[in-house]
Amino acid sequence: MLKIGLLGAGAIGRILATALDRGKSSGPHIDAELIAISDQDCERAQQLSSQLSTHPAIVSIEEMIEHAELAVEAASQAALPEFVPKALARRRDMLIMSVGGLLGHEDWFRQANEQGCRIYVPSGAIAGLDGIKSASIGSLTSAMLTSRKPVAALQGSKYVVDRGLELDRLTKETVIFDGSAEEAARAFPATSNVAASLRLAVDPSIPVQVRVVAVPGGTQNVHQIRVQGEFGCLSVDVENVPSKANPRTSQLAAFSAIATLANLTRSLRVGT
Ligand SMILES: NC(=O)c1ccc[n+]([C@@H]2O[C@H](COP(=O)([O-])OP(=O)(O)OC[C@H]3O[C@@H](n4cnc5c(N)ncnc54)[C@H](O)[C@@H]3O)[C@@H](O)[C@H]2O)c1
Repeated sequence: MLKIGLLGAGAIGRILATALDRGKSSGPHIDAELIAISDQDCERAQQLSSQLSTHPAIVSIEEMIEHAELAVEAASQAALPEFVPKALARRRDMLIMSVGGLLGHEDWFRQANEQGCRIYVPSGAIAGLDGIKSASIGSLTSAMLTSRKPVAALQGSKYVVDRGLELDRLTKETVIFDGSAEEAARAFPATSNVAASLRLAVDPSIPVQVRVVAVPGGTQNVHQIRVQGEFGCLSVDVENVPSKANPRTSQLAAFSAIATLANLTRSLRVGT
């Protein structure tokens, strides 16, 4: 049984931990056990642990990485500069949800390769990465993501604050950002993981263009991907229901982390 450690007892961490706990009775069978939780908010971690049948230990990041066989990050981009080097130093496999924090850190990928550890990046809040990876075996000509987000999900983001954008005043859908996936990851650290996942799935020589559209009165995070190349053309639309615990996070993101864990512990793996 795979021993899992969790960094982050928030919206995603809670759903993931509950699924691992429930897996012992119902739901998708995942041959894994959550053995430790780490969070800068100890009270939140304690509360989550107390709701689980196995009562995982509340520990520091170092201890979690030391005891786990797979260290799951569901915290923040800001956590990665501490979490990833520590996991690499212990040769731990990792699952990363704050994907935007991986961009620009090709050194981590190189070290993981040298250390023989794996970095898993779940599809998160989008679909279609399987097809895009297959398509990337041939040549691609363009990759584009348009993300439509409720104003509430964009308020307070670095980009909106730095530019003093008054999103409350918008009366219709408005493109507030048009740039590269790398720029999107810096501009919207909490909501650009989809752009980052697409960036990682596509050959680095192909630019990934990202548009962010603010939707007044919107209730869903809607992502539209369009990729063209030798294989033909691929379009994917996902309309995501935001998680109740964190409106910036889509429920699908947590489900995708669970599906990745299930895939890891199963002998039959479907999809690219
Ligand atoms: N890959 C995707 O498609 C996708 C989709 C949604 C969210 N995410 C990302 O996943 C991460 C978790 O999302 P969430 O909705 O569960 O967030 P959340 O804010 O609900 O919970 C995050 C938890 O991590 C803790 N935390 C944050 N930084 C920490 C640090 N440096 N050290 C220790 N603990 C720390 C917080 O105290 C909190 O309990 C976020 O970075 C989010 O942007 C990824």
